[in-house]
Amino acid sequence: MTNLLVKELLALPPESQDVTVRGWVRTKRDLKNLVFVEVNDGSAFDGIQCTFDRGGGSLGAALETSLSALSTGASVEVRGALVPSPASGQAVEVAATVLTLIGDAPAENTDGIPAYPLQKKRHSLEFLREIAHLRARTNTFGAVARVRSRLGFAVHQFFQERGFQYLNTPIITASDAEGAGAMFQVTTLDLDALGRSGKVPDYGKDFFGKRSYLTVSGQLEAETYAAALSRVYTFGPTFRAENSNTTRHLAEFWMIEPEAAFAELEDNMALAEDFLKYIFKTALSDCSADLAFFDAHVEKGIIDTLRSVVDLPFVHMSYTDAMTELERAIKAGTAFEFKPYWGCDLQSEHEKYLTEKVVKGPLIVTDYPKEIKAFYMKMNDDNKTVRAMDVLVPRLGEIIGGSQREDSLARLEARIREMGMNPADYGWYLDLRRYGTVPHSGFGVGFERLIQYVTGMANIRDVIPYPRAVGQAEF
Ligand code: 4AD
Ligand code: MG
Repeated sequence: MTNLLVKELLALPPESQDVTVRGWVRTKRDLKNLVFVEVNDGSAFDGIQCTFDRGGGSLGAALETSLSALSTGASVEVRGALVPSPASGQAVEVAATVLTLIGDAPAENTDGIPAYPLQKKRHSLEFLREIAHLRARTNTFGAVARVRSRLGFAVHQFFQERGFQYLNTPIITASDAEGAGAMFQVTTLDLDALGRSGKVPDYGKDFFGKRSYLTVSGQLEAETYAAALSRVYTFGPTFRAENSNTTRHLAEFWMIEPEAAFAELEDNMALAEDFLKYIFKTALSDCSADLAFFDAHVEKGIIDTLRSVVDLPFVHMSYTDAMTELERAIKAGTAFEFKPYWGCDLQSEHEKYLTEKVVKGPLIVTDYPKEIKAFYMKMNDDNKTVRAMDVLVPRLGEIIGGSQREDSLARLEARIREMGMNPADYGWYLDLRRYGTVPHSGFGVGFERLIQYVTGMANIRDVIPYPRAVGQAEF
C-alpha cells in the first residue's frame, strides 16, 4: 500500500509535504475565497479537511468546475501540501491544489439513479437499517465497525497471552449443544417434492446421512480439545432459531467460548471478569475517538461507566440470594411484570433490577436451579442447583453464560436421561468422562452484546454489519 490512510496523514507532523488523500466527501463548504472539502476514508473517526484557496483570484476553470459539481458521498483524490490547520479540533489540513473526481454520488435524482441517500443530516437508525450496505459511511456505523474490529483482535490477544489455543469448531453439526431445540436444520432434501409426495423425510438419504443443523454453540467440541490442550477458545458464528424479536437477540451471532481443563467455577468467574476488563480497557485506550462519539451522541456517560467497571471488583451472588433480593424489592413496592419465584428463569427486568438497582454494576449470579440450565452443568451437592454462572450488566442483562461442567460419567448420563435426551447421541461427549476426566469449566460471550455494552448502542441489529433475525435476511 503506497498511499497513506487519513488516520496516518492526521498523525504526520505538519511540515508542508506533498500528500495524496483518497476517500469519500462528507461535506463541502464554499466561502468566497476558500472551499473546504472534508474527506473521510473510514480509517479514523475524523476525516481530513482539504482547503482550496482562491487567494482572491480563481483556481482555474477546470478545478472550479470539478469543485462546484462535488457532492456528499463522491469518491475523490485530492493532492496538496500538509500544513498546520488554523481551525480548532484538527492539527493539520491539506492545502489542496489538485482534485480528481473518481466516482460521483448525485445529490439529486439523475438519469434514473436516485439521489445518494446519505445527505448531510441525521438519519434514524431504522432508516439506516434499510440501507445497511451504505450505513458504514455514517459516523455511527463507521465507529461501530472500528470498535468491533479492534475488540475482535483484543479477544485473540487476551486468550493468546494466557495460553489459550484458538480452535475452530464445526458450523454444521448433528448435536444440540444447549439441548434447547432452537436449531436451524440443514438439508439438501427436495422439500417441494417431499411435500407433494406426502411422505415422511428419510434423513438417511440426506446429505450427511442424518438430521443436521447449524450449531448453537461450539462448547461440546471445545471441551474435547480442552481435554487435550488444556486451554482453548473458539470465536465463530452461532445460530439460534429462537423466535425472540428483541433488541438483544440475533438469529446469527458471533460467540467467544473459552474452555479450560483443571478449572473450577471460581477460576471461570475470575477469567470472565479479567476478560471483560481487558476488553473495556482496550476500548478506552485504543478506540477513544469512537468512544467519545458514543458518549456524546449515543449513551451519555458510557466512558465513565467503562472506567468504573474496570476499577471495581465484580459482585458475586447466588441465584437463591438474588431471589431474596427480588422478593425484598417486591415487598418494598417494586412492580415486576413477571413475578419472580425460586425456580423461575431470571427475566430481563429482574436482571436489570439486580444490576442497575441492587449492585449498580456487573454482577455474577451462580448456582441456578438445574431445571432452567443445560444438561452438561455440574450438579451441586444439594442435587437441586448447578455450578452455573451468568454475568449480568446494567442496560443489557446477560452478557456471559457459563459453568463448571459435569465431569462424572454416571451423573452426566443420569442427567441426560432425566432431561429426556438419549445418551447414545452424546457418546463421544461422554467419552471425555470415560477417559482421563478432569474438572473443567468455560463460558460463552456474545460478541454483539459485548459491542453493545461498549458502544451503548441500544439495538443489537446495529452492532453487526448485516443482522439476521426473524423475518430478516436482507443483503
Ligand atoms: O448462555 P448461552 O446460551 O450459553 C452457551 O451457549 C454456552 N454453550 C456457553 C459456554 O458455556 N461455552 O450463550 C452464551 C452467550 C450469552 O450470554 C449471550 O451473550 C450470547 O451468548 N447469546 C446471544 N447473543 C445474541 N443473540 C442471541 N440469540 C444470543 N443467545 C446467546
Ligand atoms: Mg445463557
